[in-house]
Amino acid sequence: MVDGNGTSAGNSHQIVSAAVRATVSCRKLRINPNNEVRPDNYEDLQLDFPNPVYKNLEKYLPPDMLVSNREERVRFMTDIMLSHLPSGERSKAQKHSDYRSKIVSNYQPLHRELYNLVPRLCFVPSFLKAINENTEDSFRSIISEASPGVFVFDMLLPSFCEMMLAEIDNFEKWVAETKFRIMRPNTMNKYGAVLDDFGLDTMLDKLMECFIRPISKVFFNDVGGATLDSHHGFVVEYGKDRDVDLGFHVDDSEVTLNVCLGNQFVGGELFFRGTRCEKHVNTATKSDEIFDYCHVPGQAVLHRGRHRHGARATTSGHRVNMLLWCRSSSFRELQRLQKDFSSWCGECSCEKREEKARTFDAIRKKYVKAVHAPQA
Ligand SMILES: [Fe+2]
Ligand SMILES: [Zn+2]
Repeated sequence: MVDGNGTSAGNSHQIVSAAVRATVSCRKLRINPNNEVRPDNYEDLQLDFPNPVYKNLEKYLPPDMLVSNREERVRFMTDIMLSHLPSGERSKAQKHSDYRSKIVSNYQPLHRELYNLVPRLCFVPSFLKAINENTEDSFRSIISEASPGVFVFDMLLPSFCEMMLAEIDNFEKWVAETKFRIMRPNTMNKYGAVLDDFGLDTMLDKLMECFIRPISKVFFNDVGGATLDSHHGFVVEYGKDRDVDLGFHVDDSEVTLNVCLGNQFVGGELFFRGTRCEKHVNTATKSDEIFDYCHVPGQAVLHRGRHRHGARATTSGHRVNMLLWCRSSSFRELQRLQKDFSSWCGECSCEKREEKARTFDAIRKKYVKAVHAPQA
């Protein structure tokens, strides 16, 4: 972890890491969790890994670490996690951490209140009420399933959308002025920005943990909705001098939250074409899987990352959407051992139904043959 002062801080971090590494070698994590440990909150610190990962790891800390201060605990856990990454990934993680630190230490936010999630400043009252009640009924009262697996609900206040748009403008102005080379959100978008890279990661962690995970636990439990533990948060921009449309694809997420922030625009509809596992990603779409959605500012769409989709051309105006790709490490581990995804893949479920029908037919034929066989 780097504390955000450029090169010298980067160097000092390496010294700290080396010192900690020396202690790590003689201190290990507990084999069994200590369930009496009440997880601390680290979200105010600059973290190299998602906050929930630290919270979960804490119960495995050795007793002497539990009594140390928060910064030391974070350094200890970060070092343990980094030591488990393959060396290529470790240096990639370090480089990315340095990149973020450079931005965070130089960029002056416009609306600091955005960087700590204050629910009443972000969400419409109906959404807040449903989350506070936290039941399937309360979610269903505000969320409509526009098409199987595509959930739509009012989420963000207009004032929050405006603040976010202004913050993104401000960030882009800073990028243009300083000529800082930023990484774009993904391989498909040439415009837009990664919100996590300029300090909004803590706020988005909270958004995932306290708001999106409870909903996903109910509607997307089959793809790890209850165990979402990391995210990639970004904005995409469409219109003149920006990206125009987005081809047919699946997201690198278990659950995707897509909220339109504004502004005035024509077109840009999202088109959905059924959910598929890796093996079946290029199979044909069935007629009941075709669904088009028109963006409304402040309104959210929640869907499985494996739900195939794209965005039609934004023919005029300027459209900005905020995306949160939510991931579950435990679901990804489990998925490697599975072959049947019939609970959510349209093609796997079709194959399973056909297999069942074939088995049933074979049993029926055997039975008919036995009944009609000449008696001895
Ligand atoms: Fe997408
Ligand atoms: Zn499949």
